[in-house]
Amino acid sequence: MSRITLSRYLIEKTRSHNTPADLRFLIEVVARACKGISHAVSKGALGGVLGSMDTENIQGEVQKKLDVLSNEILLEANEWGGHLAGMASEEMDKAYQIPGKYPKGAYLLVFDPLDGSSNIDVNVSVGTIFSVLRCPADSFSQNDSLGEEAFLQPGTKQVAAGYAIYGPQTMLVLTLGDGVKGFTLDRELGSFVLTHDNIHVPQSTAEFAVNMSNQRHWEAPMQRYVEELLAGKDGPLGKDYNMRWIASMVADVHRILTRGGIFMYPRDAREPGKPGKLRLMYEANPMSLIIEQAGGAATNGSERILDIQPESLHQRVAVFLGSREEVERVTGYHHQG
Ligand code: AHG
Ligand code: MN
Ligand code: MN
Ligand code: MN
Repeated sequence: MSRITLSRYLIEKTRSHNTPADLRFLIEVVARACKGISHAVSKGALGGVLGSMDTENIQGEVQKKLDVLSNEILLEANEWGGHLAGMASEEMDKAYQIPGKYPKGAYLLVFDPLDGSSNIDVNVSVGTIFSVLRCPADSFSQNDSLGEEAFLQPGTKQVAAGYAIYGPQTMLVLTLGDGVKGFTLDRELGSFVLTHDNIHVPQSTAEFAVNMSNQRHWEAPMQRYVEELLAGKDGPLGKDYNMRWIASMVADVHRILTRGGIFMYPRDAREPGKPGKLRLMYEANPMSLIIEQAGGAATNGSERILDIQPESLHQRVAVFLGSREEVERVTGYHHQG
């Protein structure tokens, strides 16, 4: 059977679903940048890319060398192509303006260049998460700088979302709004090959993902739900559950897409007033679109994540996503209070 590369998949999409050529070009450029990040990640200590900088990002996190390098790789790959009106990233305070010497295009690219940074120095899977929006016509200008408000669109407005996972295999998982496809990097050819044609999240599961060390900080609905999970078959849920927590959202979500599960990062009392640790624009929204396109569900405990109207670029959100049955259960507990 002839292998379908990412390029062939996108060209055939362009023909059959008139996926705009600019969007196809954008996805190919992002995929190429992810190959570059994969190459840098896999060098590890040999590439001088481990360890931290002496800088902090707007999240108040100490930046890893790979956070900064991955961000630069994505900016340099995308700024000249003429397909973007601007970019935004976990690692940049403000929106990135396309340099005046390059033409601007119709799309906005928002990304977490290196997700799971705490795992870099211990050789555990990390990834890149990206989200594609259209630039609103009233925000677009070839000459003036792009305001942050152009990015503040609910997740339902995403025209594409995806992630690369840098694990034993490097994979690209992508949705253009009609299902979820997985591509595995063939390092000999240097191309992403379609290996997972229609990814679906099982409706039910016996596996959950949460950082249990935060248990004492959770609100009552979360306490109730996790207690029921831990009670196993003798408890109200009537079955034993397994737990996994990789602390790379990309790796946990990839496992859930592959075999089901529920991923949770709730708000907790450690940062009163903050709705949780994860960021809406470049973690929760792209992952929620992918999960929903694969038949799963994604809420912030009370509403669908994709419906949330963002108010700022780096705003945070509580995340419950994965197998529909469990996401609906824990969301129901939040509604009961
Ligand atoms: P990032 O490395 O991009 O800052 O994201 C890390 C996130 C996410 O990948 C992961 O699920 C979560 O942080 C892990 O949080 P804890 O370390 O608090 O468990
Ligand atoms: Mn970070
Ligand atoms: Mn992240
Ligand atoms: Mn990151």
